[in-house]
Amino acid sequence: MKAVRSPAELRASISDWQRQGLKVGFVPTMGALHEGHLSLVERAKTLADKVAVSIFVNPTQFGPNEDFTRYPRQEAADQALLEGAGGDLVYLPDMAAMYPQGFATSITVAHVSEGLCGACRPGHFSGVATVVAKLLLQGLPDLAVFGEKDYQQLQVIRRLVLDLDIPVRIVGAPTLRESDGLAKSSRNAYLTSEERAIAPRLFQALTEAAVSLRAGLPAGQACLQASQSLLRAGFAKVDYIELRDAQSLEPVDHPTAPARILAAAWLGRTRLIDNLPVC
Ligand code: PAJ
Repeated sequence: MKAVRSPAELRASISDWQRQGLKVGFVPTMGALHEGHLSLVERAKTLADKVAVSIFVNPTQFGPNEDFTRYPRQEAADQALLEGAGGDLVYLPDMAAMYPQGFATSITVAHVSEGLCGACRPGHFSGVATVVAKLLLQGLPDLAVFGEKDYQQLQVIRRLVLDLDIPVRIVGAPTLRESDGLAKSSRNAYLTSEERAIAPRLFQALTEAAVSLRAGLPAGQACLQASQSLLRAGFAKVDYIELRDAQSLEPVDHPTAPARILAAAWLGRTRLIDNLPVC
């Protein structure tokens, strides 16, 4: 597996492949890779001939009191995992390559970025949209795969690419879970063993709410019940549990069109997110 560190090397490698008639898939990540990330690489391999993966812990998507400095960094282990998963190229840009001196541009995607995580993490989705636009334009792959685990992020990226005519197909991939239902996440490493035992309640609460919603319970009631069950289970705070239209992320009361129930909640100092389809 080739490792490159500059935007020019990334573009050269990808365009070389494309000139040979090969289709290139791309998986942007912040590293601390787990099977969830690797499932995106596998998905990309089924859709493309070559797969490139980026690892960059993007400072502009972290708030001032968030975990940017303590976010797990394990470049060598990540590269070994990618090699094992059949990645063809890893892109490891440094800060100056992504944010050159005097950097002054930021992309804001209105509407889908607002509410949910956008309301709890001001500026987060502008940071994501800006760095994803840069990564896609630097590499110009044929397609890029993103996880439904970060469902609002996926919708923001779909909107971004459509609005700015970025010529990359965006593919969403399902959430990979631990055997007890907990969505795999780099941040699960922060959980104490006590918190880890409680964490699957998030998936369970969403699953139960989805059943109630399908049976006709109004969203407000189903989400309130889910939120109360999390607090009873030992979650410190629920940022939100909401039913939204699956595409626009507008609030909905009953899942008539494809809808999604989305949640963010705190276990101690760790913020967990999850979501499920409700059709
Ligand atoms: P990161 O959290 O490292 O996630 C990289 C990709 O892996 C995202 O598309 C995310 O949705 C996906 N992912 C994470 N956990 C998953 C799981 N359990 N199952 C399936 N996919 C999963 O998301 C980011 O990085 C950043 O915001 C990024 C897009 C790289 C921009 O900086």
